[in-house]
Amino acid sequence: MKSRNSRRFRTGEAMADFAAGLFKKALLRKTGKFTAALSGGRTPARFFKKLAALDLPWNRVIFFMADERRAPLSSPESNYGAARAQLFSKIKIPRANLRPLKPGCSAAAYSREFLKETGGSGRLDFILLGLGEDGHTASLFPGSRALKTNKNIFCPVLAPDTYTTRRRVTLSLKAINASSNIVLLASGPRKKKIFEKALLRDKNIPAGFIKPRGEIHFLFSGKE
Ligand code: 6PG
Repeated sequence: MKSRNSRRFRTGEAMADFAAGLFKKALLRKTGKFTAALSGGRTPARFFKKLAALDLPWNRVIFFMADERRAPLSSPESNYGAARAQLFSKIKIPRANLRPLKPGCSAAAYSREFLKETGGSGRLDFILLGLGEDGHTASLFPGSRALKTNKNIFCPVLAPDTYTTRRRVTLSLKAINASSNIVLLASGPRKKKIFEKALLRDKNIPAGFIKPRGEIHFLFSGKE
């Protein structure tokens, strides 16, 4: 693992700006294809807005989802739908570069598509992760077998019954840890404690197992 950085920000705006700068730096540091995976939830919205304002070589970027709920792409439950509304629809990116989990596409088929795009390495250039109050990230919930699998890239999981859409597909921990750059975002006072646990690699929470081959940035903003 190259480096494990953490930064705290007073506002979500400042954190999103910094995170977009990390994406830009990682993209411009590499030539050729750049594979990225994005998370859902509320926190990435500002990051997407900041990214959409940057003039980047989007034709080199291939976007997957770090996790996705089994919901129509037009549903407010769809992570791809949110990324499309907040980012993809605002940048000049070839349609072929956008890789939603299509309805009916299995985790295994999405893994094959992903492996093909990463030349068989399964190694993403960039992953944006969020953090749940229970310490989940992507859709790796406490006790998830996707934390243990060492062969799948994407796994089918069932979110806890407190969630609206329980059937999901998520990057496995192994796939997350194979990536070159991870930015994990958390915001608001309710996330402070769990953020500290994730940063300290507390093995009682899924995010505590994140230990990428490349760089990781843990970013926290006190205000949502
Ligand atoms: C999802 C996300 C999930 C999210 C966390 C934090 O599909 O729900 O990928 O992992 O990042 O639940 O969500 P908020 O950003 O809304 O707090």
